[in-house]
Amino acid sequence: MAWKGILTEYREYLPVSLSTPDITLLEGNTPLIPAESISKIIGARVFLKFEGLNPTGSFKDRGMVMAVAKAVEEGSQALMCASTGNTSASAAAYAAKCGLKCTVLIPEGNIALGKLAQALIYGAKVISIQGNFDEALELVRTITQDYPITLVNSINPYRLEGQKTAAFEVCDALVAAPTYLSIPVGNAGNITAYWRGFNQYFYAGRIASLPKMIGFQAEGAAPLVLGKIVEKPETVASAIRIGNPATWDGAINAAKESGGYIGSVSDQEILSAQRLLASSEGIFAEPASAASIAGILRHAKNKSFREDDLIVCVLTGNGLKDSQTAIKQISEPISIPATREAVLKEVL
Ligand code: F0G
Repeated sequence: MAWKGILTEYREYLPVSLSTPDITLLEGNTPLIPAESISKIIGARVFLKFEGLNPTGSFKDRGMVMAVAKAVEEGSQALMCASTGNTSASAAAYAAKCGLKCTVLIPEGNIALGKLAQALIYGAKVISIQGNFDEALELVRTITQDYPITLVNSINPYRLEGQKTAAFEVCDALVAAPTYLSIPVGNAGNITAYWRGFNQYFYAGRIASLPKMIGFQAEGAAPLVLGKIVEKPETVASAIRIGNPATWDGAINAAKESGGYIGSVSDQEILSAQRLLASSEGIFAEPASAASIAGILRHAKNKSFREDDLIVCVLTGNGLKDSQTAIKQISEPISIPATREAVLKEVL
């Protein structure tokens, strides 16, 4: 049957009623790609849930379609969010689709160009604040409390409801739960949503076990690892440059209950994992996404996996969104005269 989007596909597990509009950009149904080269390095079976293939290029579309459908159902006419880029792109797209007004607050100088382009072309009002993501989110919280504007950050409960469908898809594809779910952690909504999804499938009898949740933050933005707010988060992975995650307890809980943990990886490890993914698996994911690969590489070194372990790494966003960071770490193309001889000299 043709894919109809997550609200239709997973209707029985979602807060969808007869009055919920059937909105979709055909989000979800992303591939679970076997990572043969990385499996060899790790010494276990690794699969990549490539969420960069969603309509706006990130996992945010799952949560956004749910949140926007509920906003429309409730008669809202305006959306607002703070974002490191992907949430704003997704909110702007679904707002456009539904004819809603959308305002996004972004941290000045710290969002990837592709994400900014998306929010702008979808027609959102984009406001760059002289502060970081945590400050932007605080502003959006207070403003949406006082005005009839729907907050669509992941503190909107419908966001996580939509996002948990990725866990369903992983289990549907494997016809089981993985042994480990490795995932980048920023504002900590997604790891919370996956854990909820796995639990829901477990208690519905769809899977017989639960995965260990291993979440990875960037070293310079690792409040959950340090156990305290980071006032000035810094990392090359701008999507997860967050010092005070909104769903703090949800992430800690997922790690603890599942027997996993939240760890951190350096910017250098993130960038080298991003290059490894591209050059050995043919997958271009954004830096934040590569934290899930950097994380299992570290895990393999320190604790090691068992050969029959099944590891799913969530690749949260598409690498094309942040081509600048990619270009910076690789050598630019050589320039030669437009002659056959000159080209052959390089090729052979
Ligand atoms: N990976 C990417 C590509 C992201 O954009 C984000 C979050 C995360 C991972 C972390 O997910 O916040 O649920 O722990 N991006 C948000 C945004 C903050 O504004 O786009 P999380």
